[in-house]
Amino acid sequence: MDEAKNALEDAASSPSDCAELDHWLLFGDPETRRKFLKRIAGTTAAFTIGPRIFGLYNSEAVTVSPSPAKGTVQTVRVQFKINGKDHQLELDPRVTLLDALRERLRLTGTKKGCDHGQCGACTVLANGRRINSCLSLAVVHEGDEIITIEGLANGEQLHPLQTAFIENDGLQCGYCTPGQICSAVALIKEGHAKDDAEIREWMSGNICRCGAYPNIVAAIKQARAKSV
Ligand code: FES
Ligand code: FES
Repeated sequence: MDEAKNALEDAASSPSDCAELDHWLLFGDPETRRKFLKRIAGTTAAFTIGPRIFGLYNSEAVTVSPSPAKGTVQTVRVQFKINGKDHQLELDPRVTLLDALRERLRLTGTKKGCDHGQCGACTVLANGRRINSCLSLAVVHEGDEIITIEGLANGEQLHPLQTAFIENDGLQCGYCTPGQICSAVALIKEGHAKDDAEIREWMSGNICRCGAYPNIVAAIKQARAKSV
C-alpha cells in the first residue's frame, strides 16, 4: 500500500492532489477515483501502479505467452462416445467440450449461455455425471461417454423428463431446457430430488431467465415419481 501511495503521490502535482489521493486511498471514493484516473491516464504511473492498485495482477508473476502463429497449433486426437456413437476428433487442445459438441459435431441442442460456468445451459452428462461443458476441455474426455439432450430419447420415445417438462410447461423460451433436463436426469439418479427444497437446491446451477422454476420442479417431481 505504501509503495502504491508513494507512486501515486509522485504522480500528483499539488497538495490538493495529494489530499484527494489520500481520500481515495482511504475511502475509495468513486468520484475522486475517476478524477484521479483521468489525470494520470497515459502516464507511466498509470501503467505501473494501476493494475496493482486494482488487484488485477502481480506484475512479477505475470507471463504473457505469445499466441501461436497461424498454422502452428498442435492438434490432439480425442476419442469419445457421444450419445452411444463413437467419435474421433482432431482438436486444438484449448477447445471446450461445448464447442466440440456444437461446432464440430453439430449437436446444437446443448446451449451456450454464459460460457463461464454460471448458467448451466451447457450441462451434459459425462459418464453419468452432470458437468458444465463450457468449463471442460474436450481433450480431457478421452474415452468418456457423453450424453447430450439429443441422446436422451429412445428413438421416437421421449425420455420421461422430456415428457414431464412438456406436460408441466417446464419451459417458456426453452433456451435453458436442454441443460435443465440433463441436470435433472443426474439429479434423480443422485437421489437429490426428494422434495421441492432439495430439488431447488441441487438444481440451483441451472438458471432459467424465464423464471419457469415452479413448473421445472413439478416436472422433476413427476419424472422422479415414475422412476421409483
Ligand atoms: Fe456453460 Fe453457462 S454456458 S454454464
Ligand atoms: Fe427461458 Fe428457461 S425457459 S430461460
